Amino acid sequence: MEFKNLTVETTNNIATVTINRPAALNALNEQTLADLQRVFTETHDNDGAQVIIITGSGKKSFVAGADIVAMQQLSALEARRFSKLGHELMRSIETYSNPVIAAVNGFALGGGCELALSCDIRIAAENARFSQPEVNLGVIPGFGGTQRLARLIGKGRALELLFTGDMIDAAQAYEMGLVNKVVPQEKLLETAMEMATKIINKGPYAVRQVKEAVRNGLEMDLDRANQYETELFGLCFASLDQKEGMLAFLEKRPANFVGQ
Ligand code: CAA
Repeated sequence: MEFKNLTVETTNNIATVTINRPAALNALNEQTLADLQRVFTETHDNDGAQVIIITGSGKKSFVAGADIVAMQQLSALEARRFSKLGHELMRSIETYSNPVIAAVNGFALGGGCELALSCDIRIAAENARFSQPEVNLGVIPGFGGTQRLARLIGKGRALELLFTGDMIDAAQAYEMGLVNKVVPQEKLLETAMEMATKIINKGPYAVRQVKEAVRNGLEMDLDRANQYETELFGLCFASLDQKEGMLAFLEKRPANFVGQ
């Protein structure tokens, strides 16, 4: 696949997507949103990537937000459409059948923080900085920040960040549960790749069901969510991966999963 503002490199079923607009600190304009959307809609479950890592080009910025130059003159209807494009992308990432890891290599501001929030796991370089600075520009987040930030770190902390636009460093983000891990910048991609490799060696069918179960279950009450888990657990026993995984355990050998 060829893209205008991205590069995609796939090794061992792990795709690393690098957002590449260094002159604008990788800000998300319409073209970049469209490029990212293609990655998630055109990559199919079985012959696509088993894990996707998203990062930014350079050492300074993951994504410095939605593109302010592109937004400045938008009418209300155009802004609504732009927000919708962003939302569609974030949802495509969140509902992508396989895990998506954000490797945050610097500024993750506004739409950049929202992009990281839509991923399943966030690994931050020590120089990563997070904020939802939209109130500085007289607007609110438009790619899900008012929703996903509160769901991830709780209402009080989210509202503080959203009201003040304060920028927090990687250590503070870790303390709040906004990121899973903080590592030196030079180890960032290596750490993301290690985690991805660990994941792809598990039963792929089960990994996909885990993502489904957690994502959908969080939107249900506990009884329904547990019932949903029960159904997915049952379904695992119709997979080749379950048969292979349990047989391999009993035969004391590594499993050869096929992802079905
Ligand atoms: N959109 C467009 N261009 C951007 C940008 C953005 N979000 N962020 C940075 N740039 C551009 C700058 O305009 C500058 O371009 P020029 O060289 O042509 O002037 C270039 O990237 C480098 O930026 P700076 O010179 O500002 O670099 P710095 O190191 O001094 O500061 C920064 C870095 C703190 C990230 C600063 O650029 C900044 O505050 N950027 C804006 C961050 C922001 O407000 N993001 C939220 C956008 S709104 C949003 O995202 C809404 C939504 O939810 C949908």
